[in-house]
Amino acid sequence: MTDKIDAFVAELQEQIFTETREAFGEAGFERWRNPLYRGPLEGADSHSRVKGTCGDTMEMFLKFDDKDRVCDAAYLTDGCGSSTVCGSFAAEMALGKTVDELTEITGEAVLEKIGRFPEEDHHCAFLAAATVQEALSQYMKKKVKGD
Ligand code: FES
Repeated sequence: MTDKIDAFVAELQEQIFTETREAFGEAGFERWRNPLYRGPLEGADSHSRVKGTCGDTMEMFLKFDDKDRVCDAAYLTDGCGSSTVCGSFAAEMALGKTVDELTEITGEAVLEKIGRFPEEDHHCAFLAAATVQEALSQYMKKKVKGD
């Protein structure tokens, strides 16, 4: 009985993996399995929280070095697997970027980085990019105020 259940679970998992790999491509699939840069990030210089049109929330944490370059980044989301993949790639893309370069992280850029992504989940990439931009905005406000 247990063997049958184990076999059923293994088959189901394999089916989910196959479907996810087809939907996200290899890079997205690997990131879905191992979502790098998941936060929170202690000692972040900026933190943003943005709610998407779907109702899911994404958070981004950025740490900057003394040359205003991102030296650490992390994301959090209460959303689906797609938002996890997008948040993870967006955080990765932020690493090493100057404040100017961060403005180039758009939804399109996140989608391009992933490579392949389901059309119906493109909004997850735009949410991830908007969350990066909000974290940048928070950082710039802090700098202007001299915090
Ligand atoms: Fe809401 Fe992906 S469905 S962020």
